[in-house]
Amino acid sequence: MINTEDLFVRRMDPKSEPEMVAKISALLTESTEDFKESKGGHVPDALVDEVIHQVYTSITSITTTFADTAERLVLTSKKDNDLYGTILIAKSTEIILVKNSKCLNMRFGENGDVAPPNYHSVINFATKKEYRLNGFAKKILKEVSGKYRDLFEGKGLWIRGEPPLHDAIIGIGFTHRIEYDQFCHEGAQLSMGTSNVWDFNRKYLCDCKGAEKQIDLMKKQKYKYGIFTVDF
Ligand SMILES: CC(C)(COP(=O)(O)OP(=O)(O)OC[C@H]1O[C@@H](n2cnc3c(N)ncnc32)[C@H](O)[C@@H]1OP(=O)(O)O)[C@@H](O)C(=O)NCCC(=O)NCCS
Repeated sequence: MINTEDLFVRRMDPKSEPEMVAKISALLTESTEDFKESKGGHVPDALVDEVIHQVYTSITSITTTFADTAERLVLTSKKDNDLYGTILIAKSTEIILVKNSKCLNMRFGENGDVAPPNYHSVINFATKKEYRLNGFAKKILKEVSGKYRDLFEGKGLWIRGEPPLHDAIIGIGFTHRIEYDQFCHEGAQLSMGTSNVWDFNRKYLCDCKGAEKQIDLMKKQKYKYGIFTVDF
């Protein structure tokens, strides 16, 4: 049993905390392992191993890739420095941490608008699997809007959500910004067991504002990410 009173959110410097970097990498890698088709997820296994686990959750990624462009916060315990959750937030609203695996730390607007302006890009947001639904993600967001608000100039956060995470992201307080949702190019590889795009996409239909306008697109192109914002 953990004592939740013992948990607090703090900033961490990836260049000077190798042990915490390893814990973050392990937490994010375990979380994204669930995206694999072989584990019931929506992403081909090879893509998880070769892209997600290399570009976004590896020790190198945590230590260097976003070290200068983003603030990394951790939910940790005072007693033993264990890790319960983490979030990575762009320091400036002008930075998009990830456009795709080859376009990292982009300038906003450089490649078309991918999110509403004046929000900070967020990636690597996860809580430890065995402690989910304990209010930890909400606690992290509350501290970002409270104690750490002065670090951020913008009006809130934006995140791109994997389709199966829709309800969880809404649950922790984000609003679905359907007009910014992202789709794969036509003919993109579908998941195992799905014979057409609509079979894949229909699982991710939602009743958020504006969703009905998206149905035609959902019939043609594989749904890639939902875009969500939350105000500070
Ligand atoms: C999304 C995520 C951060 C939520 O974390 P959490 O600690 O479980 O969230 P909380 O306990 O703070 O939940 C807050 C609210 O959201 C709701 N919620 C959380 N997960 C939910 C889900 N899967 N479905 C529906 N609602 C959900 C809770 O019920 C709670 O509602 P309440 O305030 O009305 O009681 C967590 O599910 C997660 O880490 N998912 C994996 C994300 C990931 O892979 N990130 C890595 C990217 S590299």
